Amino acid sequence: MSSSRNSRGLWGGGLALVLLAASAGALAQNRFDGVGRTATPAEVKAWDIDVRPDFKGLPPGQGSVRRGEQVWEGQCASCHGTFGESNDVFMPLVGSTTAKDIETGHVASLMPGANAPARTTLMKVSQLSTLWDYIRRAMPWTAPKSLVPDDVYAVLAYLLNLGNIVPADFTLSDRNIRETQQKLPNRNGMTTAHALWPGPELGGTTRPDVQGSSCMRDCRAEAHVASLIPAYARNAHGNLADQNRPLGPTRGADTAPAKPKVAVAPASSAQDATKNAAGGVSAGSAPKAADVAGVLQSNVCVACHAMDSKLVGPAFQDIARRYQGQADAATYLAGKIRSGGQGTWGAIPMPPQSISEADAQRVARWLATGAAP
Ligand code: HEC
Ligand code: HEC
Repeated sequence: MSSSRNSRGLWGGGLALVLLAASAGALAQNRFDGVGRTATPAEVKAWDIDVRPDFKGLPPGQGSVRRGEQVWEGQCASCHGTFGESNDVFMPLVGSTTAKDIETGHVASLMPGANAPARTTLMKVSQLSTLWDYIRRAMPWTAPKSLVPDDVYAVLAYLLNLGNIVPADFTLSDRNIRETQQKLPNRNGMTTAHALWPGPELGGTTRPDVQGSSCMRDCRAEAHVASLIPAYARNAHGNLADQNRPLGPTRGADTAPAKPKVAVAPASSAQDATKNAAGGVSAGSAPKAADVAGVLQSNVCVACHAMDSKLVGPAFQDIARRYQGQADAATYLAGKIRSGGQGTWGAIPMPPQSISEADAQRVARWLATGAAP
């Protein structure tokens, strides 16, 4: 808490105020009768893990590059690549920084006019505290907050070593992190002039770069489409859906002119629902995509799976091929759809799905019988 008492913090006060309210609450009565309870000091402490640019909030500890390599190999490399170079689940973390950048603190290939082929985390980040905080808070993606501070120091030291910023026998600690900050390739590259965080205290202007006002009365109840990309222009930049990373909520519209995809059959999805209620499809003919399209849509399976290409999860046709001719495939797949899993197709896990047993069986039967289009 000490970290937030004296300053409003980077985020303009909102977060700091909540924290202050929580600590003041330990002394005062709960302001809202019958609503919730005051957070205990231990709860606030567990939550208050932010590390600031001046390293306030950084827990003491240390970790060597060598130890970091073990953490990296065991818990990070499967997604980010052995050298932090993988472009699979996220942009590469390491690469494209030079000894000159480390000297100037300004990554040259980010300068206007320079034509950098790709951007990596180590090219862009200006604060070591951001990396320390982020890794501690959010990584590994599947088990955030599971690393102890020493391992966060270690794995960060290893990343810095991969980026040729520190030597292989280096040990990063709370005592030398400030001088290590002075080697970060883009440490002088941050600007607040665009007022993403407005406010003179950060050197920015007071006008945010996005102007908007929320409607508070007589607001339009329905969305009004003012203009559309004409059909002939939709594909001008290729298929947008293929250009977004397949993680997180952003998908990008499918702008490919004639790409086969999971058919959406609204009429039959209503039918599907009735059939389900009546106890599933008859066991006779093999189901077709149209029979399960409604189920796949309404359960948002299609956010991660496509018919014939890998998105976050494997293509339905690849699943069908893999289990082709396996006697218990339908039962196995129905179970997997509901329970989720990891490791059969790669490191990215499939979360358990809250799909009904009957619907899971329909999809599984469709897959087990070849995923007919
Ligand atoms: C299961 C896959 C997975 C694993 C394992 C994983 N990461 Fe990540 N990592 C991601 C994804 C996905 C993102 C992007 C998250 C986002 O932007 O919401 C990411 C982002 C990051 C970033 C931020 C990069 C940036 O420029 O914003 C860092 C740093 C990072 N990971 C480090 C690690 C470290 C260190 C480990 C091991 C302790 C690790 N990751 C393990 C998937 C993973
Ligand atoms: C958040 C993304 C995501 C969603 C949503 C999702 N899946 Fe998956 N799915 C995956 C990933 C990733 C895998 C690979 C898991 C692995 O390697 O074990 C997978 C694997 C599968 C498999 C193969 C399992 C195996 O053991 O071979 C089936 C079948 C499947 N998904 C069906 C579905 C269905 C049906 C839905 C909707 C009810 C669904 N998935 C929703 C990501 C997702």
